[in-house]
Order: sequence, then C-alpha cells, then structure tokens
Amino acid sequence: MSKGKFFITTPIYYPSDKLHIGHTYCTVATDSIARYKRMCGYDVMFLTGADEHGLKIEERAREAGVTPKEFVDGIVEGPGGIKALWKLMNISNDRFVRTTDSYHVEAVQKIFRKMYDKGDIYKGVYKGMYCTPCESFWTESQLVDGKCPDCGRPVHYAEEEAYFFRLSKYAEPVQKLLESGTFLEPASRVNEMINNFIKPGVEDLCVSRTSFTWGIPVEFDPKHVVYVWLDALFSYASAVGYMNDNFPGDYERYWPADVHMVGKEIVRFHSIIWPAMLMSAGEPLPKKIFGHGWLLLEGGKMSKSKGNVVDPYLLAERYGTDSLRYFLMREFPLGTDGNFSNEALCNRINSDLANDFGNLLSRTVSMVEKYFDGKLPADRCPDPADEELIGMASKLRDIYEEDMDHFGTQNALIEIFKVLSRANKYIDECKPWVLAKEEGNRARLATVLYNLLDTLRICMTLLTPFIPESSEKGLQQICATEFATWENAARFGVLPPEAEVRKGEVLFPRIDIAKELEELERLEAAKRKAAAVKPVLPNVSIDEFSKCDMRVCKILSCEAVPGSSKLLKFMLDDGTGTPRQILSGIHEYYKPEELVGKTVVAILNLPNRKMMGLDSNGMLLSALKEENGKEKLHLLILDDAIPAGYQIC
Ligand code: ME8
Ligand code: MG
Repeated sequence: MSKGKFFITTPIYYPSDKLHIGHTYCTVATDSIARYKRMCGYDVMFLTGADEHGLKIEERAREAGVTPKEFVDGIVEGPGGIKALWKLMNISNDRFVRTTDSYHVEAVQKIFRKMYDKGDIYKGVYKGMYCTPCESFWTESQLVDGKCPDCGRPVHYAEEEAYFFRLSKYAEPVQKLLESGTFLEPASRVNEMINNFIKPGVEDLCVSRTSFTWGIPVEFDPKHVVYVWLDALFSYASAVGYMNDNFPGDYERYWPADVHMVGKEIVRFHSIIWPAMLMSAGEPLPKKIFGHGWLLLEGGKMSKSKGNVVDPYLLAERYGTDSLRYFLMREFPLGTDGNFSNEALCNRINSDLANDFGNLLSRTVSMVEKYFDGKLPADRCPDPADEELIGMASKLRDIYEEDMDHFGTQNALIEIFKVLSRANKYIDECKPWVLAKEEGNRARLATVLYNLLDTLRICMTLLTPFIPESSEKGLQQICATEFATWENAARFGVLPPEAEVRKGEVLFPRIDIAKELEELERLEAAKRKAAAVKPVLPNVSIDEFSKCDMRVCKILSCEAVPGSSKLLKFMLDDGTGTPRQILSGIHEYYKPEELVGKTVVAILNLPNRKMMGLDSNGMLLSALKEENGKEKLHLLILDDAIPAGYQIC
C-alpha cells in the first residue's frame, strides 16, 4: 500500500574532523522528514554518508601521521565517530555512502569517461584562486576582500593542467530550472544563485587536480584525480546503483532524489553544478534542493575548520537524544540561521518537554490509575467544555501534514504543542480532582480523562518522527502503540472506551538550569582541551623521546622570588645528592609553604634559563584545567612512596 517512493539525502560530510551540532541539525531534520514520510506510507530511501577525498583530508592525515584511508576510517567508523553519532542520535538512514567505497570509485571513473566521450569534459589549463579548506575554486569577482567568500580565509593562486567541465553550456537550462517553480527552496535562494553565480557569467569548471593524489584517479589519465565535488555529488546516485551493480533495481526505483537537504553554503554546488552534470550525463534531475540555514555560535557560523563548535555527543549523552532532537527542530526554522545556546536548550527541555508534554502525560496517567485503577469505565458524559480540545486534536494531523510537506518542521511542532497546552488548560478547567470527590461524577471524570488520553495519542503519534524513542515510551504508557498510525492520527476517539494506562518512567526530568549551564561550560572547556592533540612529530622516535630526562623530585624548599608576582623558586632533591634549583611561574596557583615536601615531576636536562637574574635548571610538569572560565594550574604531584631520582619512562 505504498504511496510511492521518497528519496531524501543529507550532504555527505567531510570526515576531516569530528562532526558538530550543525551537521547533527541537518541530519536530524532529514531524519525527521524521512520518518514522517515512512509514517505516511512512502517507500523511503534515506541516504547519508562521508565525503572522504581531497587535499584537506590528505593534509589532516599527514598531520596525524597516518594514511588518508586510516584517517577517514577512524573518523567515520571509529569510537565517537560519524556512524556512532548517528546511532546515538537515533538516525534512521537506510544507507551510508563513503566515497572511498569501491562501487562509488568505479562509478565516478565511468561517469568521468562518459562526460569526456561526450565532449563535456575537456583538457585545458587551470588558472585561478583556490580555497583549500572549502575545496573550492573562486573567480576574482567572487572573492570577498580577496578572501574565500564562504569561510573568509586566504585563497591561493593555482595554475595547472586540468580537465574542465563545460558548465557554461548548461548555464541557460540551469537558469530556467531555477526559475521554474520549486526546484530550489527556500525561494529566496533562487535570486541569490541567479544574481551571484549565473548573471556574472558561468565559466567552465575545473574537475581534476594534479597537485595531490588523495582522490579518484581519472582512469584514462591517472596523474589527475577527480575534483572532490564531482566525486561527492555523484555519490547521491552511485549509492542507489548508478553506474554500478551494487544495488540492483534501486536506481530505477529511487532515482531521481526527491529532496537533497543541504546547508546554504553548498546550495551553489547542488542547484547549479549538480543539475548541469546530470544534464550532461543524460539523467533525470533531483526534484528539490532545500537549502537550510546555519546554526551560529555567538553570531558566527560554527565550523569544523574554525573550531568554534558545540559537541552533540556531550549534549545527547547528558540530556538524552530526544531532548536534543526536539530542541534542534523546535528552536530553529529550517530555512534561516539561528543562534545556538546552551541556555535555549535547557529552557526548551524544561518548558516544553518536562512541563507541557511530560507533565501532562504523567498527570493523566496518574489520575487514570488513582481514580480508576488504571482502566477507564465505558460510561461517558460529554460536555460543551470538551469541544474545543476535541476540535483542535481532530484537526491537528491535517495542519501538521501541510507544514511537514513544506519543510515547516518548526511549525508542525508548534501546532502539536498548542494542542498539548490546550489539554493542560482543559485539566485546569475540568478539575478532575474535584470531580473525583463525588461518586455521581464518575462518567464525567472518565470522559475528561479519556479526552486527555486520546489527545495524547494523537500528539505522540505526530511527535514520533521527531522524538521516536520518547513517543514510543509515552504511547506504551497509555497503551496506544497499536493505534499510533497515520490514519488514526486524523480521528478523535480511536482508543477503546475502556482505555488503559501503564505507568512508566518520567520521560523528561526537569533540569536545574543554572547548575547545568555552569556544568556544561566546564565540560565543554575540558573537552576542547582534551581534543586539541598536537600533531605527530614525524622524526621523534621513542629513543629520541627518552633522551628527555624526566624524574621524580622532592621539594626541599620553596619561596617567592622578590619582585615577581608569578615566580616561585624551588630547591629540589633530584636523587643526585646535589640540590637543584628550578624556577616556575605558578605563584598565583600555590602558596610556597603548601608545596614543601611534595613529590613532583621535573624535566632535568633542559638548557639553563635565567629568570629575574636567577638560574632555572629544568621544568616542573603540571596540567592546566579551566575552572569558571579561568585556567587553573595543577602541579603533577605523585605518591610520596616514590623516592627522589626515579626516572619517568
Ligand atoms: O560541505 N549550521 O561537507 P561539510 C547548520 N562534503 N548546518 C551546518 C553547519 C552549521 N553551523 N555546519 C555544517 C560538505 N552544517 C561537503 C558536502 S555533498 C555532495 C558534499 C551542515 O562536512 C550543513 O548541512 O562541510 C552543511 O551544508 C553541511 O553540514 C556541510 O558539511
Ligand atoms: Mg563545510
């Protein structure tokens, strides 16, 4: 009884670093829409993946001292990696494409040859400006203050033999496509594309590189690797079997894609370059590109390469996957930018999830238990006071459908919460605790509780695409799992008259916001510190490293250096019998007298340094920790049982 197929994709993300809340936002939005379409009865194909080639990945791998493939394997498949994040976020993707997958590599080589044979790819010389972090070429006119218009970083001049794609040949049909209705949404992005990229003149696109090797080799000219964007865009098609035999029948079944969800900075690639390439290949075009807005942090775009990112792992683990999913979808309209803040997250959890929804569910279930031992009697006593709630709940699905079909995920949630708020008000109006005092009111009391349960059934059914796990648990508590279908969501009165409940856990515990904000700041600072591992030193072997003489020392004496607010002068027993003098700038963290007698670690064979005219022969080891926004230093203090002079190895 499928209503047809629905093929939706996220961008395939660069595994140049761990993903952040911005990627999570796009993937959760796509997941919510995919789950919604499945609920409606579509045969859904939901694709996500990783874009693993290119100079930036090659460079990151070199810094880390591993091969590019080892590097991307770690970020995609490893602990705390991309696949683990999507598992944690309960993402229901049907497929995950990696551009290093052999079926994709072969497909791209065939596609490149096909376009070459057709004359749409030709050999020439590339001259222009290149932004390495964005893997993008820019013309002079596109640069902003001479810098990359996407990320604002410096670009460099590059000149080399390269293959070009005749993008110019397709400028006109692409412009027509953009102007024809709903290919690109939100509509505001259409003019931006036409005015900024088509009107100034479309140049042919450089689609191969010879300056690095981490890419798909052009099969008939292997010193060239295929430009990452050609490689990446075609993964949408190769992942359903285009130009390969890996997924028999899927290309016919799912292509063209119904929606490519992408961030606004890559709309250009998806709405101009991608359709032009498909036109060249003679394949059907995707039906829609949706360009969503950015999550900003203190007004600027959060990005892996800038490092100003919020960690979704930490937030999902602390507050639960569904709280984070809900917040992302409720707080930000899909089309525009929004400011991320921990405070907004905590407020949403408390006001919407704990109060309006969670509390309504637990109050209703408790009352059914308390007044009717968990099962309502069948007698009813309707009242005009019920009509508004029933009316709103009955109409909810159609309003929601209209919103969801137009990427109005935020509005869809707002509508659900209007009904939940109305239900809370209904409790206040009907006062079940007063009704419960009179035996004669039992039918009325049962009616009120039934109306609440059935309203909750509809709301939780429609919440399922957004907060799948909590909706399921909530539906179990009102024994409504089997009634939670798309068809039933349009009807009031679906639960049996003798509706039952089964009390369960509190779905969304209230949080202490002030305490949480402090704790989050601390955790994020600690994570940032821990994450910033320095690059591997390529020439330092273990032997080289062990030349560094680190030793257990006892502090014999410690005093402030006159005239310095920072320096402390230490005399240490380093095991040699001769006291050793070391200066250290840690007075703001320790009083001299509290350190005397402590067992610490020092590097002894550093060159002598003079500070304030005094000799320092070595360095004490310590850890820096952020506390309340300030760095606090902690000396490494060892067990006193370890004697002075012992070597650290
Ligand atoms: O561009 N706010 O990968 P990428 C919202 N590999 N969304 C954000 C975001 C933010 N601050 N930061 C990232 C690439 N995103 C290419 C794509 S597709 C054939 C190739 C989301 O790792 C947003 O969807 O830079 C954006 O478009 C995407 O992540 C870019 O991820
Ligand atoms: Mg990016």
